Amino acid sequence: MKTAPLVAATLAFDTEGVAFSSAYRDRYHPRSGALEQAAHVFLHGNGLPGRWQGRERFVILETGFGLGNNFLATLAAWRGDPRRCERLHFISIEKHPFTRADLARAHEGSPLRELADELLHAWPSPTPDLHRLDFAGGQVQLLLALGDVADWLPQIAARVDAFFLDGFAPDRNPAMWQPRVFKALARLAAPDATAATWSVARMVREGLVTAGFEVERAPGSGAKREITRARFAPRFVPRCAPARLAAALPDGGERHAIIVGAGLAGCATAMALAEQGWNCTLLEGLASMAGATSGNRAGVFHGIVNPQDGAHARFNRAAALHAAGAVQQAITQHGAAGQVAGVLRLESRSSEAEMRAQLDALGLPPDYVQALPAADASRLAGLALPLPAWFYPGGGWVAPPALAASLVQRAGAKATLRCGTQVAALRRAGDAWQAIDVRGAVIAKSAVVVLANAADAQRLLDEPRWPLSKVRGQVTELPLATPGLRLPLLPITGNGYVLPALPGATALFGATSQPGDDDPQLRVEDQRHNLARLERLTGSSPRDGACVELAGRVGWRCVATDRLPVIGAVPDLAAIAAQPGLRLDQPCLVPRLPGLYVYIGLASRGITWAALGARTLAAVIAGSPCPIAASLHDAVDAGRFASREARRESARRLGDSVARRAAPSGPRAP
Ligand SMILES: Cc1cc2nc3c(=O)[nH]c(=O)nc-3n(C[C@H](O)[C@H](O)[C@H](O)COP(=O)(O)OP(=O)(O)OC[C@H]3O[C@@H](n4cnc5c(N)ncnc54)[C@H](O)[C@@H]3O)c2cc1C
Ligand SMILES: C[S@@+](CC[C@H](N)C(=O)[O-])C[C@H]1O[C@@H](n2cnc3c(N)ncnc32)[C@H](O)[C@@H]1O
Repeated sequence: MKTAPLVAATLAFDTEGVAFSSAYRDRYHPRSGALEQAAHVFLHGNGLPGRWQGRERFVILETGFGLGNNFLATLAAWRGDPRRCERLHFISIEKHPFTRADLARAHEGSPLRELADELLHAWPSPTPDLHRLDFAGGQVQLLLALGDVADWLPQIAARVDAFFLDGFAPDRNPAMWQPRVFKALARLAAPDATAATWSVARMVREGLVTAGFEVERAPGSGAKREITRARFAPRFVPRCAPARLAAALPDGGERHAIIVGAGLAGCATAMALAEQGWNCTLLEGLASMAGATSGNRAGVFHGIVNPQDGAHARFNRAAALHAAGAVQQAITQHGAAGQVAGVLRLESRSSEAEMRAQLDALGLPPDYVQALPAADASRLAGLALPLPAWFYPGGGWVAPPALAASLVQRAGAKATLRCGTQVAALRRAGDAWQAIDVRGAVIAKSAVVVLANAADAQRLLDEPRWPLSKVRGQVTELPLATPGLRLPLLPITGNGYVLPALPGATALFGATSQPGDDDPQLRVEDQRHNLARLERLTGSSPRDGACVELAGRVGWRCVATDRLPVIGAVPDLAAIAAQPGLRLDQPCLVPRLPGLYVYIGLASRGITWAALGARTLAAVIAGSPCPIAASLHDAVDAGRFASREARRESARRLGDSVARRAAPSGPRAP
């Protein structure tokens, strides 16, 4: 998906005071009122609230978020319904989001002012991503896709129960009513999905019919005589790809998962599963959670900028937005040590002008990232910095063990933590997986198991699935009183990182990166290396490394070769081997083991990635809308390596056959 700068909408009103778009020469809603339209056309037109009653989950997708009136009306109806579904997912796509200030102005006199204020409070930075905004304690989740409907619809992974089709009028806004838009809706439609719109234009009705909907006209309201209602009735329903199937639970089976490993990955998974209404048991081999790689005193988190804005940059950006929320909550609600006040990343390869040009080309907003000259960066850091810097206002630092604890606390009674419980093996028994201890006894069993035990995950499988390496890292800690030590006010990263003064009057900086090194001891030469990094980043040079007390921590990052996390159902190698002709060219086509999932490979970015990666996995397990674009889902999917291998193999076979055909044939028989 190509990143295109977002152009914000401009708020204007027509002579009757109705919000109006001069770009599309149309009103955002009829004169009779946005909420009246939302109730009659979109809610009633889709059989709501009746259809969501008694359901565990209901999914709505809207084209055109605009002022969010349909969303607010839906949220109000859901809150006011005693028989409401447990969880409501509202996905909406918007090419021209309003600024927060304009949105506030538009909702000044709204009868749903309180809900509008909640929306304003949660309103995201306008980056071209899928943003998740939580309401009603997370029971209502708004997934806001910022960008063009034609780009986003193929990137959404969800089973949609009701569509709200709310572009501007088809003659002024044809892009919202194209046949390919309707086709994309059909791909997302759950078997009994419905759609409704105020438009009765022929292209709308015909588009819906061609895509497999049965269409009827229904009485309108206000100045609108008729509206369109539709029901999905396809002649053919394509099968769901194996990797995108929700976990199958035995009849009446509890929504429960075992999570092996209680580092950042496992603890975030507990939180994310609880958000989906699932219980879990966390099995941790050590005496307490976050005692292995996630046990550093503090670490930094932030997004990244890359001119190509490829999968890595987009996943990091989306993840950084989730991380800021998780860290902020850990600090304010659970007393974690940390700060979300920005991070500076020194830039050695581009000038400030080049950095600005990159941001202009990508259209990234200043509340996500800014390009600062060295002087401005120095002012923020409180130190003279040698280089220009990227400033990520939503970044910061946190104590990973406190973040992990906060994530588990958020799961509340839905998570049970069992420390000192090492899983020696996994065994399939009937419909369930059993976690086995060293003596061969069953520790726990469940239809669903998540391996969040970093490098140890492959040991629990019959054969390794992923190209992972263990990369040793040593961070250095020094007392603040160390002569010559000066620390920044914000974390500074670049080649290594240094944090501001930590509680306990400690400085922390580093870290080394040593693949294939198993040494658990702190080493003097690594300390020197970290001191040199500190000096390069900040100009601060504590007394010669040899004289400074050796202190810090050693850990191992679990890193996949493509430096992205490994998330999803575990590939079924036996099924692949048994079906030689099987199509595997996309990760989602790779066959999976039932009920066995993995979340590992968090590399050097566990704090940034933990929450979004876990929410992606929990969405797969629960079968709820995926919080990341499909292309990003493919990029982090646990089946991607099997898929790449299959593509390489088929390219090799093709190459061989071309070479055979091109080779000169043998001597002709006389
Ligand atoms: C020196 C260093 C500095 C870093 N700095 C940063 C930073 O600034 N910012 C950042 O975002 N990231 C940083 N990282 C990376 C970050 O720490 C990791 O990405 C993250 O901690 C990985 O979390 P995890 O849950 O995947 O792994 P772990 O924290 O290792 O958790 C896995 C857990 O599984 C348990 N386990 C394993 N096998 C079993 C079993 N069989 N049964 C039961 N339990 C089991 C382990 O005991 C462990 O608790 C740093 C890493 C290092 C080494
Ligand atoms: C009628 S308004 C939607 C009103 C909205 N549902 C509400 O409740 O306030 C139509 C919206 O579609 C958006 N839009 C127009 N073309 C689009 C496109 N190609 N992709 C995504 N959104 C688009 C407009 O920016 C506008 O916000």
